[in-house]
Amino acid sequence: MAKPPQRLFISSEMLLVCGRKGAIKGAAANCRQMIRAAYKNARLEATVSWLDWDMSYSVKVKKCDDDHRKLFSLIKALHEAMKAGKGAQVLQQILKELADYTKYHFSGEEEMLAKTNYPGLGSHRAQHQQFVKKVEEFRQDAAAGKLAQTIAVSTFLNDWLVNHIKRTDQQYSEHLNANGIS
Ligand code: FEO
Repeated sequence: MAKPPQRLFISSEMLLVCGRKGAIKGAAANCRQMIRAAYKNARLEATVSWLDWDMSYSVKVKKCDDDHRKLFSLIKALHEAMKAGKGAQVLQQILKELADYTKYHFSGEEEMLAKTNYPGLGSHRAQHQQFVKKVEEFRQDAAAGKLAQTIAVSTFLNDWLVNHIKRTDQQYSEHLNANGIS
């Protein structure tokens, strides 16, 4: 059976910049660099495994599971927007929503852990702060037009969320359930 053609995505912005810059002698290197980045992205896309929320990510607290599902869907929306080469405004809007919802979820989760005297709260909170900082960096880069439109950004966020839920959030299930929160 013939192999399907390898996907290569070059955003409309990249082609536009390429077209403009291609007319200027000496700027062809920029164009080659963008094409190389697109090929690299296509290779990454061929190997990346995207993970959606399923019951194996449940933390046995309904509100947190609902929030996590929402975070997965926001990161997926960012992923799809990047794949489609959407403009900076769209990326900024999704990143803002992701930043807002992340803060909302983290503060709610930390509140539950604090009021039940969860012993691992300090290190858990530090992980949240690191993620908030990273999303803010992506937002600033997007606002400055410097955010690389690559699935490496959205897969980083997807990986972080998966690892955080599996390795950190799921450790509080028993504690919160024992304190009447489910
Ligand atoms: Fe659900 Fe610790 O974030």
